[in-house]
Amino acid sequence: MNRRSFVQAVGLGALGAAAFELPTLSAQQAGQYGGQRATAVGADVIRIGSNENPYGPALSAIGAIANVAPGANRYPGVLQQNLVDVLTSKHGIPEDRLLLSCGSGDLLKAIVMATTSKVKFMVAGTPSYESPIRTANTIGATVKELPLTSDLRLDITAMTAAAPGAGLVYICNPNNPTSTIVAASAVEALIEKVVAASPSTFILVDEAYFEYADSPGFATAVPLVAKYPQVIVARTMSKIHAMAGMRVGYAIAQPGTLKLLQPYHSNSGLNSMSLAAATASLKDDANTTKNADMNREVRKFTVDAFAAAGYQVARSDANFIFVNIKREAKGFQEACRQKGVMVGRVFPPMTSWARISIGTMPEMKKAVPVFMEVLGTPEMKTASLDLSYLDELPSELT
Ligand SMILES: Cc1ncc(COP(=O)(O)O)c(C=O)c1O
Repeated sequence: MNRRSFVQAVGLGALGAAAFELPTLSAQQAGQYGGQRATAVGADVIRIGSNENPYGPALSAIGAIANVAPGANRYPGVLQQNLVDVLTSKHGIPEDRLLLSCGSGDLLKAIVMATTSKVKFMVAGTPSYESPIRTANTIGATVKELPLTSDLRLDITAMTAAAPGAGLVYICNPNNPTSTIVAASAVEALIEKVVAASPSTFILVDEAYFEYADSPGFATAVPLVAKYPQVIVARTMSKIHAMAGMRVGYAIAQPGTLKLLQPYHSNSGLNSMSLAAATASLKDDANTTKNADMNREVRKFTVDAFAAAGYQVARSDANFIFVNIKREAKGFQEACRQKGVMVGRVFPPMTSWARISIGTMPEMKKAVPVFMEVLGTPEMKTASLDLSYLDELPSELT
């Protein structure tokens, strides 16, 4: 199959088609290409449980995949260098401060394994992204989990105070699941104080949702890497770049720090299609801006609907919101699932709050009435239901 017929086969037609028109697969094409996309996008279920981007990858990224696929018999060296070039120029860093990875999840794991141990504890917020906390638990490292502030932000003062002697301080900014940010000045102050009091403590700033944040005072921690060998910043292509299924992430840190991760990390392993798609998407500023704008608009619609119904919503700087549904989140999740809407799982200790990812406007216009219907009916008693399967759903990882 030549490039042109490949592109037609995946349903794009002309690559210049209107931005954000989702390519759809016919049943026949779905069979031919494994059916994943048809299952994910075409089914009636509204998937707003895993903080995925509902609009699909940039057309420029899909075009790049079509372009490189015929050459996938070759190893991807040149394509990897292209991505390195784009990222180093975007962040203004030398190459030796960049580590590519198949998703940022693998990097977080490597960082926790390299910096914590049975005698080196970790400091994190609660609730915060659980994956690094679980890795620490797995290797027997203690995690000091610190409650959030009253407006559901990471408590930077408490985290700073708890840090001396730690192997790692984990700052998820914006924070998953609460969608809130902490200001760049607060992150910098934490780093300065922790490094002064405890120079062997590393600070991981996870910026998975960076591009969605628009609160004043928010900024990346990347510039701090130049000054502090203790700072590691993690980024992913899974969120605003809509490439969760392509598995691309990266870390930025000083070379000596990245070297510490080597025993725990495969050092890239990215394939030609993912590399080309990531490179194209990172160059496609119009696509990134459009995604952020659409998310902002649909997020406002969703937040307004909950607020009008009397529910408190945390200030969101992400592609998801965190809502006080004033009842058990597990029963809410199950009741919504029965009506075809998949929302986030339960995030202890905030078990009466629901995390809802922002879908497309048509999806949220269908989902909001479902939420209101569920919240308007008596609470589903989950004690009598076997809901253990909910913990096995993909949202468990996100
Ligand atoms: C805060 C945060 N960090 C990292 C990740 C991992 O993303 P990925 O492994 O897809 O790059 C996620 C996924 O949801 C996340 O929410």
